[in-house]
Amino acid sequence: MDDLKGLILSGGRGTRLRPITFTSAKQLVPVANRPVLFYGIEAMARAGIGEIGIIIAPETGEEIREVVGDGSRFGVKITYILQDEPSGLAHAVLTAEEFLGTSPFVMYLGDNLLQGGITDLVEAFREGSPDALILLTPVPDPEHYGVAELQDGRVVSLQEKPAEPKTDLALVGVYMFNADIHEAARAIEPSGRGELEITDAIQHLVDSGKRVEPHVVEGWWKDTGRLEDMLEANRLVLDTVERRLDGEIDEASTCEGRVVIEEGAVVTNSTVRGPAVIGAGARLTDAYVGPYSAIGENCTVERAEVEHSILLEGSSVRDLDARVESSLLGKDASITRSDLQPRAYRFLIGDQSEIGVA
Ligand code: TTP
Repeated sequence: MDDLKGLILSGGRGTRLRPITFTSAKQLVPVANRPVLFYGIEAMARAGIGEIGIIIAPETGEEIREVVGDGSRFGVKITYILQDEPSGLAHAVLTAEEFLGTSPFVMYLGDNLLQGGITDLVEAFREGSPDALILLTPVPDPEHYGVAELQDGRVVSLQEKPAEPKTDLALVGVYMFNADIHEAARAIEPSGRGELEITDAIQHLVDSGKRVEPHVVEGWWKDTGRLEDMLEANRLVLDTVERRLDGEIDEASTCEGRVVIEEGAVVTNSTVRGPAVIGAGARLTDAYVGPYSAIGENCTVERAEVEHSILLEGSSVRDLDARVESSLLGKDASITRSDLQPRAYRFLIGDQSEIGVA
């Protein structure tokens, strides 16, 4: 089974991460200062997959192409596949049919992160050659996920976001299929939400007597589709960074614990308490950056405190009395104090932004 290919889904609407997704792809939102999507590509490369198709949407596809490139920096070959409408995960498979041909493949949701990578799973799939292998993990709220029911080590039923789940085993965003999935995706009808659901296509495989095997994942798995999940993914990944201080740090500053200061960052009279990463060209002046913060390239934190937050490149926080926490700032967004009278909050914020003031 050497011609195993990879398919990463980076289209979709991203409604749950608005307003960030009005202007940018959610798969490019950084986790520990690297786009979420990079972790998936690297996991595939590590598992020995050399040919990867990336599904893109018309609105965000160009940006993804620009940031990811042809794959050479990951040691893989990337082909971009345009999906006109986000009509579901099984629709994405059909859109990629020409690229996939008759190859077995690993499908990976571009906004997902899997702690242990996928090398073991790909090996299990290569060795056992089932028709499909799905990843599962127990969750406290299965009604929000695709849920699987097992019998004698096989998958017997799947439901998408069931009101009354039969088990607590949620589908993780990584799947392995042989070419039978194409016929299954063609055989199903759109669901109530108008999408061709991958759960229905897998159910079709089961009903046609195909061998669908479950694999319960051990490490953590995160779908970064919402702000809280994005912050949690950031926490989980920051917990693994190695301390490295390459930027300019003056004597009045301290960096405690797992801290990365990239080359070209300037830290002046500030405290950085890890785990935290500070991107190239960022400036921290009279600032405090607390645990679980990822400060992007060319950001500024000045006479202000930031903790448990993600700042995208070029954003800034200045002269605030209260600490900024559990926040996500979009590119070039700025929060500052103004001396204008009357003393008031003055906002210029995009659609569906959220602001909480102390
Ligand atoms: P979802 O997060 O389930 O869907 P979405 O991106 O439309 O987000 P929201 O629910 O917030 O509106 O999608 C999982 C991944 O699959 C994500 O990386 C987007 C991608 N995707 C496609 O590429 N094509 C599709 O048709 C769909 C539905 C998702």
